[in-house]
Amino acid sequence: MHPSPPPLRASTDQAPGITGITTHLDPGWSDRALREEVQQAFTSLPKELSPRWLYDQRGSELFDQITELDVYYPTEAERLLLDQHAEAIVSMAGVDTVIELGSGTSDKTRILLDTFVSDGQLKRFVPFDVSESMLTSALVLLGDRYPGVSITPVAGDFNLHLDQLPEAKSRMLVFLGGTIGNFYPEERETFLRSVAAVLQPGEWFLLGADLVKDPARILAAYDDVEGSTAEFILNVLHVLNRELDADLPVENFEYVVTWEADDERIDMRVRAKTEIHAFIGALDLAVVFDEGEELRVEISTKFRPPALAAELEAVGLRVRHQFLADGDEFGLFLAQRA
Ligand code: AVJ
Repeated sequence: MHPSPPPLRASTDQAPGITGITTHLDPGWSDRALREEVQQAFTSLPKELSPRWLYDQRGSELFDQITELDVYYPTEAERLLLDQHAEAIVSMAGVDTVIELGSGTSDKTRILLDTFVSDGQLKRFVPFDVSESMLTSALVLLGDRYPGVSITPVAGDFNLHLDQLPEAKSRMLVFLGGTIGNFYPEERETFLRSVAAVLQPGEWFLLGADLVKDPARILAAYDDVEGSTAEFILNVLHVLNRELDADLPVENFEYVVTWEADDERIDMRVRAKTEIHAFIGALDLAVVFDEGEELRVEISTKFRPPALAAELEAVGLRVRHQFLADGDEFGLFLAQRA
């Protein structure tokens, strides 16, 4: 017999254990969002999609592969920073609740959680992710590792649902991996404002960001010879084919990546190798790619520490400490709501 799923607990309940996922995403939400975005993307120029759609099961596997590439420095650099500075972070920021945005498998966050737990402060961990299946697979591991901590997962979109995060005595919002680089400047400002708006004065925000460095080194991280990044980006076409009953000929597209020096960001696209006519069944939409036409799938902005700190300060997030890796490989910014 299968045990029944654990009941949802009220958000003030701090008893240890894992609760069911609180979801802000109604069924069909993701499907509707994808349709709207694709309709818009393929009827205006230049064509562009948001990186959210990259992470189906295959895409998540490919991203994991990327993080293991020697050329992809951000993952290891951030892990090292967390290893070196978790104790300093925990002793500066006394909190009883950690909320991780875009938690995925919470892999690197465990370094921080371990330190909070051995310090005896942590009562609750809230992994927040847009993927319920990702949350589900992370849960068992988290529950086993932190038996004394209440794990209360939330499924939501951090562009929409930040105002519905659980309250606590004192919280730290954590946003790691350099995902902040996916935003355009205006989106980033909106996001940082909403982070500041949900935090009470004195609460904390820990941000991981990739930094500007030798462009050749950056570009190499997004152009591996093994082809994992190409496959990861091209996979979005498989997602569209499957989810929207489309017939985009994936083999007629190639991956293109450039370093945009003015904007200090990596720009990842797929480019039609020939003229392509395709049909998106779910939208009843015929699409044409001219030969050489591109569809942008992701940007990855790199930051200069003083400028990023100024952006944080501008929205009321006081930067208390910057932990920068040697050679500006990566940065962790610990900020406190003013
Ligand atoms: C998950 C957004 C941090 O921008 O480096 C890696 C995604 N895309 N290789 C990044 C990514 C291609 C990654 N982030």
